[in-house]
Amino acid sequence: MTDALFQPVAIGPYRLPHRVAMAPLTRSRAGQPGDVPTAMNAHYYRQRASAALIITEATQISPQGQGYAWTPGIYNQDQVHAWRQVSTQVHEAGGLIFMQLWHVGRVSHPSFQPGNGLPVAPSALPVPGKTFIVDEQGQGVWSDVPVPRALTTEQIAEIVSDYRQAARNALAAGMDGVEIHAGNGYLLDQFINSNSNQRQDAYGGSIEHRARLLLEVVEAVVAEAGAERVGVRLTPMGRFMGMGDETPEATFGYIVQALNRWPLAYLHLVEPAVVGTVKDENFDPRWDAIIAQLRATWHGVLMLAGGYDPATANQAVASGRADLIAFGRPFLANPDLPRRIREGLALNTPDPSTFFGGDQRGYVDYPSHP
Ligand SMILES: Cc1cc2nc3c(=O)[nH]c(=O)nc-3n(C[C@H](O)[C@H](O)[C@H](O)COP(=O)(O)O)c2cc1C
Repeated sequence: MTDALFQPVAIGPYRLPHRVAMAPLTRSRAGQPGDVPTAMNAHYYRQRASAALIITEATQISPQGQGYAWTPGIYNQDQVHAWRQVSTQVHEAGGLIFMQLWHVGRVSHPSFQPGNGLPVAPSALPVPGKTFIVDEQGQGVWSDVPVPRALTTEQIAEIVSDYRQAARNALAAGMDGVEIHAGNGYLLDQFINSNSNQRQDAYGGSIEHRARLLLEVVEAVVAEAGAERVGVRLTPMGRFMGMGDETPEATFGYIVQALNRWPLAYLHLVEPAVVGTVKDENFDPRWDAIIAQLRATWHGVLMLAGGYDPATANQAVASGRADLIAFGRPFLANPDLPRRIREGLALNTPDPSTFFGGDQRGYVDYPSHP
């Protein structure tokens, strides 16, 4: 039984017919040169338009915000124009689509940076991770990440205005709203977590200071899009890209309480049982307590993602743990996922070898159920 997933729910001005959302999924197939969506990308999203809400793959707000090969941008008019074909296709098929806005911070490489400079971060601390770059032969290869440079306060202000412009561009591209990516060890998460932020100015030190950049970004994006068209994604206790916080209950409790200032479309949390794309068998046992705490603190709609199957998703909604569930890998492999869940049909299996980069294989050729 999956009845709980098939009750309508409102987010901002939108009435969703059910609660099976598509999680943001980087697929590294943007058109080159220029990191612009293609007709194939538009087709991929159209195939998945039966989602209650599509959240696009993470989309860089500036050249500086890019950290991986072939990810799309939303900082110039060519990209706005190209994204419009995506929103048009999804709308024609009856869907709703928010764009995930992304700045990777230190998880980048000079080959993406303006002037081949160093990637930026709250503090000059290295990332215990790798990124995916294009080599001289045009092939994608994994690469170590250099020690980043710490941002000045003036440079931080420029990033806030890049977010605002990106939100404006997303709406101009026909998006129904935007999701601010504040998780998975990227820039906003690097500011939030105590182990990646050693600043001693207004953006580091206390919880209030570490949360400041996220809240400034939310304020700027809300000014552009209206709170009811803005969602925020957080990964409390996530360990991807070396994240860690000394007092996660206090840090994320403060942030969620502060986000209540705006009537946002939704808050989106990722279960820490999934680190990046890998199941973490040793996830922090405090998670169940923290999610209950954040659920009680948050006044709006709560979306959860991470390792859900139809039964556990339905249980999460039925029990009140979440209002909506975002599916990542299951939606990647099943363009008609809501119908399959509702009718109890078998699911296609995702193929990790085609997750990032490549052509139509493993992208638009997963079949719908006959
Ligand atoms: C191929 C792939 C790409 C992903 N890209 C993003 C992304 O762009 N932004 C993001 O916030 N999370 C991203 N994630 C994380 C997913 O949104 C989701 O949280 C994760 O896959 C766990 O959900 P699942 O178990 O339903 O797949 C990605 C995951 C995968 C597998």
